[in-house]
Amino acid sequence: MASSPWIFGMLYLGLILQQSLFLNSLTSTNVHIVYMGERRQDEPELVSDSHHEILSHILGSKEAAKESILYSYKHGFSGFAAVLTQSQAKHIADFPGVVNVIPNRILRLCTTRSWDFLQVKPQIRNGILAKSQSGSGSIIGVMDTGIWPESESFKDDGMGEVPSRWRGICQEGEQFNHSNCNRKIIGARWYIKGYEAEFGKLNPRDGVEFLSPRDASGHGTHTSSTAAGALVENASFMGLARGVARGGAPSARLAIYKVCWSTGGCSSADMLAAFDDAISDGVDVLSASLGSLPPLPSYVEDALSIGSFHAVAKGISVVCSGGNSGPYPQTVINTAPWVLTVAASTIDRAFPTIVTLGNNQTLVGQAVYTGLDVNKFYPLVYGEDIASVDSDEDKAGACDSGSLNETLARGKVVLCFQSRSQRSATVAASTVLSVKGAGIIFAKAPTKDVSVSWSLPCVQVDFTIGTYLLTYMEATRNPVVKFGSTRTALGQQISSEVAFFSSRGPSSLSPAVLKPDIAAPGVNILASWSPASSPSEPDMLKNKLKFKFESGTSMSCPHIAAVVALLKTIHPDWSPAAIKSALITTASLEDEYCQNIVAEGAPHKQADPFDYGGGHVDPNKAINPGLIYDSDSTDYVNFLCSMGYNDTAISLVVGTPTKCFKSTNFLVNLNLPSITIPELKQTLSVTRTVRNVGPENSIYIARIQTPAGVSVTVKPRILLFDSTVKTLKFKVVLRSLLRIQGRYSFGNLFWEDGFHVVRIPLMVRTVIEDFYSET
Ligand SMILES: *[C@@H]1O[C@H](CO)[C@@H](O)[C@H](O)[C@H]1NC(C)=O
Ligand SMILES: *[C@@H]1O[C@H](CO)[C@@H](O)[C@H](O)[C@H]1NC(C)=O
Ligand SMILES: *[C@@H]1O[C@H](CO)[C@@H](O)[C@H](O)[C@H]1NC(C)=O
Ligand SMILES: *[C@@H]1O[C@H](CO)[C@@H](O)[C@H](O)[C@H]1NC(C)=O
Ligand SMILES: *[C@@H]1O[C@H](CO)[C@@H](O)[C@H](O)[C@H]1NC(C)=O
Repeated sequence: MASSPWIFGMLYLGLILQQSLFLNSLTSTNVHIVYMGERRQDEPELVSDSHHEILSHILGSKEAAKESILYSYKHGFSGFAAVLTQSQAKHIADFPGVVNVIPNRILRLCTTRSWDFLQVKPQIRNGILAKSQSGSGSIIGVMDTGIWPESESFKDDGMGEVPSRWRGICQEGEQFNHSNCNRKIIGARWYIKGYEAEFGKLNPRDGVEFLSPRDASGHGTHTSSTAAGALVENASFMGLARGVARGGAPSARLAIYKVCWSTGGCSSADMLAAFDDAISDGVDVLSASLGSLPPLPSYVEDALSIGSFHAVAKGISVVCSGGNSGPYPQTVINTAPWVLTVAASTIDRAFPTIVTLGNNQTLVGQAVYTGLDVNKFYPLVYGEDIASVDSDEDKAGACDSGSLNETLARGKVVLCFQSRSQRSATVAASTVLSVKGAGIIFAKAPTKDVSVSWSLPCVQVDFTIGTYLLTYMEATRNPVVKFGSTRTALGQQISSEVAFFSSRGPSSLSPAVLKPDIAAPGVNILASWSPASSPSEPDMLKNKLKFKFESGTSMSCPHIAAVVALLKTIHPDWSPAAIKSALITTASLEDEYCQNIVAEGAPHKQADPFDYGGGHVDPNKAINPGLIYDSDSTDYVNFLCSMGYNDTAISLVVGTPTKCFKSTNFLVNLNLPSITIPELKQTLSVTRTVRNVGPENSIYIARIQTPAGVSVTVKPRILLFDSTVKTLKFKVVLRSLLRIQGRYSFGNLFWEDGFHVVRIPLMVRTVIEDFYSET
């Protein structure tokens, strides 16, 4: 069997993923969220008092209660976060009015690869920007690491008054006061109590964090400027990709909710407080580029799921990143049906760099570096051959930290191979730099993301080229190599792909809900950065780095948040589900050059809905989708009932006493703009409802692309809308034609009126009823 190193690379990534899953599930803490459902009083202060009262029963005094309470949630719902022992938590759960007690969780930003990736800018065309006045009037809330307010992206030149409905604040703190908010950054808050209760007091004198909305990490500045950054002329990363940098909704306002800390992670107690405030402040859309790895917490115990449920019930769209654990199936996170879950795609830009060997042969790699001494031959050595005495060869082969011998590496270009334990080009580059090498060639699984190299040329090649270089070295007495300058290549020859790292569906928690929902650019995105965040980088760059390339679903998430803000300006009466439907039914399966979008992985394949949901976002088409698949909170409650959660647990999410009725199966009948049947035994009939948002008198005809192994019929096949008929129901009957335990197959259902093409994806997996029975 051919086992190329490329296949091994994939297996290694899988193992690493499992290890981190294991670590994640061990987190246990003493911060608890005491959830009390919908608030009963209108006066937030009274709600707060009632929280103190309950807690003082447990802790013995009002003073102790005030001390232990971290947050009183009082706007969107009632509840509080407090530091409690296990037994106090148990005790408090029995109090009247207490719906549930949830242990705090620590979430992560979705750019685990942030230092290891780079490049690109948003691709929103004029149609939607013109119609929405670039999103002026809409308010995007960003839950992240805060903001660097001095960045040019956040200038408010020419912006009108802050919308009068805005009720948020500009919360002061370390190096952040009222003057840091303006007509662009209209609100800023920070939340650290849950974090500090877990990890101890943050010491601001470390200089690595600010106890304020100010961003020490860069991540929040990047996502905020991607969503709503003003136009900045002549932006570049060290001269590469020079051009105009701008957010997707350049006239929209930003409300900053700092819930994540550069020292590591975001606490769910803090996040719930941010949801509570954002709902009452009046944001239109929330962008949350964070989440936890699988196993996914249940929808009734996850702060992001609960907070977003309340936001969506109030008409606020919540957009989340889908995670960076691809290309493995079932790795997608943030899968509640009421949120928009975003996958990451690449765009039509690359950074080719020519590598010339001593025999004049040329190879092409990818790199991003400028201004260094290139076009000169250097000796080429393999990391494994120059291991330091106290390191093993495997480590040296991957140029792991401390593995190379300086005497042998000095002045040479070092070839390194990505390994199971050392996957990062950034780590390898800093190892080679530390032993005074002249450059590095890093061979790795072929993906489009490129690491930034600060002080020495780092060219990334795939394993095939890496292996070829080894052959060349063995056959040559004095192997040498020369790097050309990096170019920025644009255009047609570079096809759009779902990024290798982008997490894939189906959802491991609710496989009948298609996730991710949609894809947006998330590889090598150029946006504003925090100058405070370069401690490990050379001094020459410190305080100069205003724009930076980043890759991750963290970067694709604010792209969709921006498009949602624009749509909301054009259609203020559309619900979050309606906006999601418009995005999914109009999404594209092809890139701008009419080539099918493929999925990075091994081997490349045409992307399917578990890679990119409805497809790649097409903002201009989403303005006018023709038909809408809408849902509201009642539908989501029915969905939670069908998930099998008990009444108590559901009341907790919903905030009002809720009773489930055994009725329709809302796992498959929730009115989503997609139909996923994880287990089709024989025949199944599902219903959907569509609302006409196009011309009053419209005739739509059904067309089906049938998934392999099933027959699909739609009843009725024609939908007639007029001035009185706005909403129509139809049935889709799926029948299994196979007697085998199948895989998922994919198809589409289209409704067409001669102008609109309203497409929803169909995902069906056939199973044999008695497959698992013993007899
Ligand atoms: C606010 O901060 C700015 C610098 O960031 C400073 O110039 C200004 O004096 C501060 N204003 C107040 C009221 O502290
Ligand atoms: C863009 O910035 C560079 C320095 O980063 C400068 O040399 C160049 O003149 C600028 N171009 C324009 C058009 O402002
Ligand atoms: C490589 O090309 C250069 C000029 O193009 C030439 O001078 C040199 O002899 C060539 N070397 C080999 C090994 O072919
Ligand atoms: C590095 O290599 C040199 C030459 O082979 C050797 O003398 C020296 O001991 C090595 N040092 C380390 C730390 O491996
Ligand atoms: C309801 O479900 C929750 C968790 O989902 C569980 O903790 C609780 O015990 C259940 N309550 C009843 C009455 O079954």
